Amino acid sequence: MTGFDTLLYEKQDGIAYVTLNRPQFLNAYNMQMRDDLAEVLKAIRDDDEVRVALFRGAGEKAFCAGADLKEFLTAPSPVVARQIRFDRDVWGLFLSVPQPLIAALHGYVLGSGIEMALCCDLRIASEDAHFGLPEVELGIIPAAGGTQTLPRTVGRGYALEMLLTGRWIDAGKAWQIKLVNRVVPKKQLRKTVKQMAARIAAHDPDVMRCAKQAVVQGLDLPLAAGLDLERILAARFGPGSIAQKA
Ligand code: COA
Repeated sequence: MTGFDTLLYEKQDGIAYVTLNRPQFLNAYNMQMRDDLAEVLKAIRDDDEVRVALFRGAGEKAFCAGADLKEFLTAPSPVVARQIRFDRDVWGLFLSVPQPLIAALHGYVLGSGIEMALCCDLRIASEDAHFGLPEVELGIIPAAGGTQTLPRTVGRGYALEMLLTGRWIDAGKAWQIKLVNRVVPKKQLRKTVKQMAARIAAHDPDVMRCAKQAVVQGLDLPLAAGLDLERILAARFGPGSIAQKA
């Protein structure tokens, strides 16, 4: 297991495990975590042995309670604190990783915590998970991609309700609005996500990457262009390519 200051990184049987590891601060996202996450995401992206990656939070209470408010408050202003974060485009990097990404969500999933989860492809929550975007209470708007990724996931109405009111929702509501794929009892969270990751890792990694690319890239395209993209990607696995592989 490789230890960063704020993350644990482990690789086993084609699955990368990334654990946000500041449990004493509910895994709040600080600048060190930004830097560590950038390193880990690049390592995942560039490692063909990694077929799928799983993100989770250490400790009992939280996946991630959002941006580190102590750091935010010691910066001259939240705007300056943010500007420093923008120096490194972690969220762009997150969204560009070609392998499937899974988030295992428990406890508090707030602010950048939700946004990190939204950079993943599949989200599995435990029954104790609570989701919220408290940014409006701080006089700012989300800036880790949330204003774009949330409506693409739950639709405009629910996204705006969460963004404008700052109201938290529980795991059941998160499932109802399709913020998460599945809700499981807390003690089954690890096992469920591991099984899901293992299932993905057992398939041809090129097929997994192309399926992800077709869906994710296609969602931002007009239908005709999306169908073109699908045709191009599907052709990689046509009879000719199977013969080549054999
Ligand atoms: N940044 C920095 N530290 C944080 C944090 C954050 N976002 N969220 C929690 N912590 C720290 C607390 O300060 C506390 O540390 P301390 O013991 O040194 O004081 C520790 O984590 C445990 O948190 P605590 O508040 O005691 O837990 P709780 O169960 O009573 O409350 C929350 C949990 C999530 C309701 C509460 O911590 C909270 O509101 N956090 C801020 C959430 C937020 O606004 N995030 C920013 C989004 S932009």
